[in-house]
Amino acid sequence: NAARLVVDDDFEVAPVDDRLFGSFVEHLGRCVYTGIYEPGHPTADEHGFRGDVIDLVKELGATTIRYPGGNFVSGYRWEDGVGPKRDRPRRLDLAWHSTETNEFGLHEMAQWLEATGGNELMEAVNLGTRGLEEALDLLEYANVPGGTAMSERRRANGADRPFDIRMWCLGNEMDGPWQLGHKSAEDYGTLAASVAAGMRQIDPGVELVVCGSSAHGMPTFGAWERTVLEKTYENVDFISCHAYYQPFLNADGTRDMASFLASGVDMDGFITDVAAVIDAVKAQLKSTHDVYISFDEWNVWYQGEEPSKVPEGIGNWPVAPRLLEDVYTAADAVVFGDLMITLLKNADRVHAASLAQLVNVIAPIMTEPGGPAWRQTTFYPFATTARLAKGGTVLEPKLAAGSVDTPRYGEVDGVNAVAVRRADGTLAVFAVNRSLDEAAQFEVRLPEGRRAGEVEAITLHDDDVFAANTLADQNRVTPYANGTAAVDAEAGTVRVTLPPVSWTALHVR
Ligand code: AHR
Repeated sequence: NAARLVVDDDFEVAPVDDRLFGSFVEHLGRCVYTGIYEPGHPTADEHGFRGDVIDLVKELGATTIRYPGGNFVSGYRWEDGVGPKRDRPRRLDLAWHSTETNEFGLHEMAQWLEATGGNELMEAVNLGTRGLEEALDLLEYANVPGGTAMSERRRANGADRPFDIRMWCLGNEMDGPWQLGHKSAEDYGTLAASVAAGMRQIDPGVELVVCGSSAHGMPTFGAWERTVLEKTYENVDFISCHAYYQPFLNADGTRDMASFLASGVDMDGFITDVAAVIDAVKAQLKSTHDVYISFDEWNVWYQGEEPSKVPEGIGNWPVAPRLLEDVYTAADAVVFGDLMITLLKNADRVHAASLAQLVNVIAPIMTEPGGPAWRQTTFYPFATTARLAKGGTVLEPKLAAGSVDTPRYGEVDGVNAVAVRRADGTLAVFAVNRSLDEAAQFEVRLPEGRRAGEVEAITLHDDDVFAANTLADQNRVTPYANGTAAVDAEAGTVRVTLPPVSWTALHVR
């Protein structure tokens, strides 16, 4: 099993947008309550924000934060979450059959983002149970400096300066029958077009994300994008993609790990397909405007195998129950790293992405109420990719790799890889070995004339692909320095051995 990546400085895909390293905080389970917000926790500040979590968010390198949902937003009244906390109502959260106390809302989110070092807020408006008027009220509240009912209400609530939110999601997963207020593409496209136009009348500089499909496999996929874009194209900047991966089950009930490790192939196809619809609608409308992809929910998620179930019963609406608290394995982190490579490879079309989600809920960061916070296996590929790729330029991935056979996707590249030229001129390369049992000899052919002095390689791999980090064993899986990496200055190459089921980052100086 061998693979070669030929890197050429003259062939660029696109600059790496910082927004590719976005994440997502939804009012769901313990993402907000006992996740980022836990008054009384030993590390909490005066706002109740957990300091241990803030430190990990900084280390993760997450940028834009999508908020407040998710499915949650389709029943959310944003006004409930502003003003004196004692006056805020407790409401039913129909998406997750929970009680929303509204102790945490827009102002707290803005304060928390400041505490994390100034991450950008990507706000979603409710187009499930609500519409144009409420979206306009929220935009006025958030972005108008003062002198009007909504903007003065914000100022009275303690935020003198506007929040100046640039990115807005026009609802969430409106193609999904599970969505509160689910709509047809026709109805959603018409509503989103009017909301987009209205929002621009208040603030022409907002960047708007219209809902695409909530999965590549949705029965309405493709047609949904076409109809929605035909109605909204000139007034939106992004169309969303959402994708979650987990192992399919073989006929004998075992997990199809080979296909799972090739999940990046599906994500790549999803992006190619949506880009084709964008191009077709652009041509049809004879437009000069560009629409990009916001891949604003992506992750590994064991949806069919959740240990927790969404609560049930008319009298049972718990506050912040444990939901979607997936424990990620070494194999999950390899798939996750592959998804990040795939996003980078498509940086010309994908200008924003949000890892769903940030804390406790299908998350890289876990917490215990009153207790510690720790890193899941997936934390590491995210943090390292963000650290090495931010500010860089993706170079065209010329990859020659042996193939592996997968039941779902057929023959796929056994190694997936991409190179990023960093702002300081050094090179970062990210690679995964998708093989279940064979190591890969991976060679990077450096750009002509580039003299590499040294290489630093870190690899995430565990002989037990199901090993995971847990409360009891928080550092069971961590990346290690890969001692096989070596520069051959004469040949202009870097070589490294990639163990089976592994993710590796190279920094070539
Ligand atoms: O991220 C969890 C859920 O997945 C979100 O609420 C929803 O948008 C998606 O279906």
